[in-house]
Amino acid sequence: MKKVFKILGILLIIVVVFAAGGYIYLQAAFPKVSAAPDIKIEPTPERLERGKYLANSYAFCIDCHSGRDMSKFSLPVIPGTEGKGGDDYGEGAGFVPASNITGDKETGLGNWTDGEILRALTSGVSKDGSFLAPMMPYTLFSKMDKEDLYAIIAYIRTLPAINNKVPKKELKFPVNLIFRTIPSDVTEYGKRPDGLDKIKQGEYLGYACKFCHSPSEKGEIIPGMEFAGGMEFSMPDGTTIRSSNITPDKETGIGNMTKEMFIARFKSCGDDSNLDPKTRGFNTPMAWNFIAKTSTDDDLSAIYEYLMAQKPVMNKIEKVTKQGLK
Ligand code: HEC
Ligand code: HEC
Repeated sequence: MKKVFKILGILLIIVVVFAAGGYIYLQAAFPKVSAAPDIKIEPTPERLERGKYLANSYAFCIDCHSGRDMSKFSLPVIPGTEGKGGDDYGEGAGFVPASNITGDKETGLGNWTDGEILRALTSGVSKDGSFLAPMMPYTLFSKMDKEDLYAIIAYIRTLPAINNKVPKKELKFPVNLIFRTIPSDVTEYGKRPDGLDKIKQGEYLGYACKFCHSPSEKGEIIPGMEFAGGMEFSMPDGTTIRSSNITPDKETGIGNMTKEMFIARFKSCGDDSNLDPKTRGFNTPMAWNFIAKTSTDDDLSAIYEYLMAQKPVMNKIEKVTKQGLK
């Protein structure tokens, strides 16, 4: 009997030593990212305009990095909080508050170089080289056109400084180790489509649509289920809401929605005084108001063309359920 315990004890020690070794290795070896590039981004009027547009629409920077009014339909940004951070994006992984990206020197990006911001946006590490959680979608931003990234950085620099100290993130095991291994150098930036190919234009802008509207398993979109809906969100009012099927399937998707209906649906949410969840019957994390306020009709139209070019997937989604019920 004693012998068995002794063997078990030794095995346990071996396991612990290996686990500790693995832990120390992961801590020491990752994230594997090069020094921030030495760049100075000229804030030309073209860049500021393009950056403002993207950050307040399809790049969703201001949507995630500001205060949101939870009592209103589609959770609009609270004016005056742009960039201050603090909202939690941890979901199942822990507590991951969005950072303060205003120019505040103490609590924001005031002391960061342009190169450090570019590296954070595309490689996923903070100023000090520590890893960012992928809720900050740096793996997707690394596929943007470098000029668009420069434009966003130039614009972010103009956000009025807000002193707001965001608490540190707290990740659960084992995501705290996994997330550390994801950051990497950018090998090739994307290319902004020229505007003639509407489907490419829609694809370039629609990264977030795809993210929220595709069911995934272990962080990867289930192949063949792109845009088929079903991602779940818990709303502050206790309901669970699921993203819609926005493939061109006529029965369960948006195949019967014309381009005009699609654009009008967004535009009907652009007015802040018309965002009462009670009259709309539910509340939603879908950024109807955010996109409606900024997007050009040309870009909405391109996204529509892109969605209509997808494979129709039959997948019926129950939009709203009360938590605990089914
Ligand atoms: C889906 C929500 C989301 C979107 C969209 C998003 N961010 Fe973030 N961002 C976060 C979260 C959450 C963090 C904190 C990650 C962490 O602490 O590990 C973060 C971190 C950052 C950081 C690092 C700051 C620091 O102190 O380390 C920068 C810079 C940043 N975001 C800028 C941007 C810009 C610019 C955009 C648009 C191009 C953007 N973010 C879009 C959620 C988002
Ligand atoms: C934060 C996650 C999120 C993002 C990002 C998002 N959506 Fe949604 N979307 C939802 C949810 C949840 C619903 C269901 C509730 C509702 O109708 O608002 C929805 C509903 C919709 C609907 C209504 C479909 C129907 O049949 O009623 C359309 C159309 C749509 N989204 C298009 C888009 C497009 C285009 C984008 C990108 C610009 C996008 N969504 C980005 C979460 C998201």
